Amino acid sequence: MKIVILGASGRLGAALLREYREKHDIAGFNHTQLDLSNLDAVRAKLRAIGFDLLINAAAFTNVDACETERERAFLINGEAPGILAQICNAKEAKLIHFSTDYVFDGEKRAPYTEKDPANPISFYGESKLAGERNVLAAGNGHVVVRVSWVFGPDRPSFIDAMIKRAQQDENIDAVADKFSTPTYTNDIAGMLPQFFDREVEGGILHFANAGKCSWQEYAQWALDCCRDGGIPLKARTVGALELSDMTTWTARRPVDSVLSTAKYTELTGTTPRAWREAVADYITRFYFKK
Ligand SMILES: NC(=O)c1ccc[n+]([C@@H]2O[C@H](COP(=O)([O-])OP(=O)(O)OC[C@H]3O[C@@H](n4cnc5c(N)ncnc54)[C@H](OP(=O)(O)O)[C@@H]3O)[C@@H](O)[C@H]2O)c1
Repeated sequence: MKIVILGASGRLGAALLREYREKHDIAGFNHTQLDLSNLDAVRAKLRAIGFDLLINAAAFTNVDACETERERAFLINGEAPGILAQICNAKEAKLIHFSTDYVFDGEKRAPYTEKDPANPISFYGESKLAGERNVLAAGNGHVVVRVSWVFGPDRPSFIDAMIKRAQQDENIDAVADKFSTPTYTNDIAGMLPQFFDREVEGGILHFANAGKCSWQEYAQWALDCCRDGGIPLKARTVGALELSDMTTWTARRPVDSVLSTAKYTELTGTTPRAWREAVADYITRFYFKK
């Protein structure tokens, strides 16, 4: 299978590239090599090459910047995915497009299924929802995969920032009243191939590790794992912040955006591992040797 991955230098795209390189014929494009905000260039570049599967892990992911750069967010996250789907249609190729738990408003207070109505409360969420709709409207068996709180070795995220702070400072804190599920890029890479040549009813799938936590609990677990592995830290515990303390954030964020993976389990007969296990694995593999 010939696969093209967009967003190849991003946290998720780089992990997919690394994991699939040995088994598949893979080409990756990073932001410099293919800019999703230049739709003519996207058409020209992708039409010129052959592939069976296009994976779009590229996006304008800075949630606050999307509030002020709305047109750009809509172009990259909303319009470009629809163009990618059309390019795939012309080649009879499949598109797997990544989206986010931020398409939900967070008010359900129970895990969101693929059938729950989206109701974004940020422009990032709105632009990503527009992208989902454009991909699905193009038809042809394309799949939208929503993920939450992505972490992994290829680009630092919240967990790495918290570990770094704990190494430098005795007092650290994190938001305790916002909930979702940390999801390991390597686990996403393991789950995805089951859908490379499989139709998904409704076209949307939720991928996340199992369970639920606040950012404070997530950070505390990361510190506990580091401590168990003998990594010296100045901070022992993570203090609690409230969402309302985050006055520098311009975008609203959903307070409880846990994604249900029941559909994934129904389709594959497997359950993603717990987020605590995934975080422990990540820290063991990428911090213990440092
Ligand atoms: N990170 C999370 O917690 C999270 C949560 C839910 C959903 N998601 C979704 O998961 C997917 C992967 O995100 P990620 O975590 O891997 O984020 P990431 O590390 O920010 O990766 C996104 C990639 O897209 C690239 N990009 C940005 N603008 C582009 C453009 N105009 N043209 C081409 N490439 C562009 C970025 O390149 P540069 O950095 O060089 O600009 C970056 O390599 C995205 O669809 C995101 O919406 C992420």
